[in-house]
Amino acid sequence: MTWAEKGLGLEDPRFEGAPGDYEALVVLLHDKVDAALIARATRLKVVVTVSVGVDHIDLAACKARGIVVTNTPGVLSEATADLAFGLLLAVARRICEGDRIVRGGGFRGWAPDLLVGTAVHGKTLGIVGLGRIGSAMARRARGFGMKTLYAQRTRLNEAMERALGARHIDVDALFQESDFVSLHCPLTEETRQIVSRARLASMKPGSVLVNTARGACVDEDALVEALATGPLGGAGLDVYAHEPEVPAALLVRENVVLAPHIASAERETREAMAELAMENLLAVMEEREAPSRV
Ligand code: DGY
Repeated sequence: MTWAEKGLGLEDPRFEGAPGDYEALVVLLHDKVDAALIARATRLKVVVTVSVGVDHIDLAACKARGIVVTNTPGVLSEATADLAFGLLLAVARRICEGDRIVRGGGFRGWAPDLLVGTAVHGKTLGIVGLGRIGSAMARRARGFGMKTLYAQRTRLNEAMERALGARHIDVDALFQESDFVSLHCPLTEETRQIVSRARLASMKPGSVLVNTARGACVDEDALVEALATGPLGGAGLDVYAHEPEVPAALLVRENVVLAPHIASAERETREAMAELAMENLLAVMEEREAPSRV
């Protein structure tokens, strides 16, 4: 049952027509706070999202009306990087395929050719977006003896690059040179389908894509093709372009690990997200500076 079916979120029919009454909206990432809703919400002062992503909110429309938007950065970085690295390992070492074999009664004992995967140690990880979550991913990669490349508009200073062991590179070159590519960028007009057909085609044979950012950062049709006919060797995905829909062609692929948008789903992290959201809400309503204003 979805949150909407449970009667939760902005899709709740009880909410229909009501936003004019509210000064504050506390939303989740599937609640679309678009220009039409903002126009109806005539008393609105603040939109508090319990997420780091803000792609479900029309920021320009909020700005034009002087409505404050807050999110929950920082508190979910380690959790998200853990899941991203978990997906990377699960694909490289074929953990979910192994699980299916064992549960299906197909394990006949050790064999030299059973589920031979690809090494992680010594390989190159390309990180798209070296912000808080990307940096947490880079620290994990370092612990696993990987080389790290990163692409983003603003280059970090040398000391930060050294501390993370990450080398700045152009985004096209990152796709060509990495064995694993992990997305940690927000969804914006610039990053929509940043994983394009051309970039997927330029990747190394057998390489792996990990996405815990937003599904729309990837051309999903091109991804399906690149998994079926190469060069991609696998993918670990937590997010999809049209959630909760997952492309049927992905469901039947052995070389793909699919998670249901759970990167921040740790009890401790969800509590921290809720607390930060409430601090933001109180701050704005009490006319103080919000801890994490977008
Ligand atoms: C976010 O906060 O934007 C994540 O996608 C939810 O865990």
